[in-house]
Amino acid sequence: MTQGNASYQTSALFTVVLGISAAASAAAYQYLRSQHQRNENKNMNSNGSDLMDIIKRRRSVFPKQYTGEAIQREVIDTMLEAARWAPSHHLTEPWHFIVFSNKESKEKVGEFLAKDYKVTSTATGKFLRKKYEKKLKNAKVSSYIIAICLHRKQGSKCPEVEEICSVAMAVQNMHLIATQYKVGCYWSSASVYDPKHKKTRAVVNSDALREFLHIEKDDATICLGWLFVGDCREDCFKYSTRKPITEKVEFR
Ligand SMILES: Cc1cc2nc3c(=O)[nH]c(=O)nc-3n(C[C@H](O)[C@H](O)[C@H](O)COP(=O)(O)O)c2cc1C
Repeated sequence: MTQGNASYQTSALFTVVLGISAAASAAAYQYLRSQHQRNENKNMNSNGSDLMDIIKRRRSVFPKQYTGEAIQREVIDTMLEAARWAPSHHLTEPWHFIVFSNKESKEKVGEFLAKDYKVTSTATGKFLRKKYEKKLKNAKVSSYIIAICLHRKQGSKCPEVEEICSVAMAVQNMHLIATQYKVGCYWSSASVYDPKHKKTRAVVNSDALREFLHIEKDDATICLGWLFVGDCREDCFKYSTRKPITEKVEFR
């Protein structure tokens, strides 16, 4: 064998070795990627046992995503039970929920919201018939509609804002339980704010809303919104996006 031939063979061997190692690294990379993807999917598909997974998967699921099928009463009862365990300053437990659960009562909510929308949007020249119809339909496809209320006791030691926070925590508990059951829900603040007071106080309900909910004149109850609850497809519970927590936190 000549010297030229030997060096040719060495470089060919070197090229083959390089090729094999490149292929091996590519395969290893692919393997690691698929393992990572599998772990991610496993996490995404975990059956509601991991609290963090439920928190991340909780989505506002809107009536247009509801199938219209009834959901089990057990779900709503468990959601309400979870609400009961929310914290409140001085343990005032200031939540009050009015659950509209049958066809007629839910339709009445839809009619109230549609009519209220018509009145307020006509006043500002923004009325849309499609939106009006949607409000009627939203109520029909929901399994339950819960009026989220803050019930302040006379002479409560708590500032109103703290009581609102407590109600919101109760609603989050309900939302998480709904997610665990793969039941859709979302908090709507439609028709909650009386336009006359929108800029003066956190929440002032209109007389029409108070009348609809049978809240007496001297009753310090305030409606903070509506929790629409309905059956939906499992793929409604996808992870969403949020800003990195580092943008929202400072350690000192
Ligand atoms: C107090 C409160 C009021 C809300 N009101 C409305 C509403 O009136 N209309 C609406 O489409 N969504 C409403 N939402 C839902 C938010 O739009 C939703 O939470 C947000 O877009 C984030 O989406 P996610 O819940 O799927 O993470 C409300 C949420 C909260 C907490």
